[in-house]
Formats: sequence, C-alpha cells, structure tokens
Amino acid sequence: MNGPNLGILGSRQPDIYGTDTLADIEGWVAEEVADRGWKVEAFQHDGEAEMIRTIQGNYDSVGAIVNPAALMMAGWGLRDALADYPRPWIEVHLSNVWAREQFRHQSVTGPLASGVIFGLGATGYRLAARALLEKVTDR
Ligand code: DQA
Repeated sequence: MNGPNLGILGSRQPDIYGTDTLADIEGWVAEEVADRGWKVEAFQHDGEAEMIRTIQGNYDSVGAIVNPAALMMAGWGLRDALADYPRPWIEVHLSNVWAREQFRHQSVTGPLASGVIFGLGATGYRLAARALLEKVTDR
C-alpha cells in the first residue's frame, strides 16, 4: 500500500524517486512472492482515510508492504490503524529520508513495523517482499 503522491511515481521528482512506476514495482513484488502462491493486491491512496479503510479491510492478508509517504511524519490515524493490523508489515521508503530535510527524519509508523527499509529505491520493495516471505510462517 502506497501513500500520497506515489501514484505519479515514474515522473515525480525522478532524481529523488527514480523512474520506476508503481506498476513496475508491483510486478516485481509479485515476482518475488509468486513461488509461495501469494497474490499481490496493490493500493495507492492520496488520503489517509482511504489508507485506514484499506488496512481495516485487509486483516485477512498474509502481510503488507507499506510506503506511508508523507504520512510517515504525522499520520497518527494511519499509525493507529497499523497498530491494529494483525499481520507482519514492512515500511519502505524509496529515498534515504535521513539524507533529506530534518522533518523527514521521524516516522510515526516505523516503530510499529516488523522492519523498515529506506534509500534503496524500488529494490527496497523487493527486499521487503523477501523479508515478508521469511517473517510469515503460517501461510
Ligand atoms: C517517501 C519519503 C517521504 O518523506 C515523502 O514524503 C514521500 C516518499 C519515499 O518513498 O522516499 O512521499 O516515502
């Protein structure tokens, strides 16, 4: 699940976020988990409310990869929704947020994640998929 402004990935500040589109990334994640028989359901929302509803509607998923985008910094409602999500999930950021503006250095959601990956571009999503394959032992 991807947060605000990630729907235009590919053309959004390519020097920071690269030229891969969300469709490219979703395809790579699907490749990573295909052998396990997992299917990827991909969501991108610009609004926090839709993200919260997506989480609440997907408690039966095996796990999740979440890029909360700017909601990492103050998305307290999203944070509370993730606190109730009963499955492992990995937070991913394409850019190295530590190398950017100070206001990006804190994530309100990150402490709840099974792990956090940032700064590796689209590869981060592939690695998150691999991490989920390891973390999820019951499906
Ligand atoms: C981002 C980093 C956030 O700080 C920013 O607001 C984004 C994208 C990333 O993937 O690098 O929208 O989550």
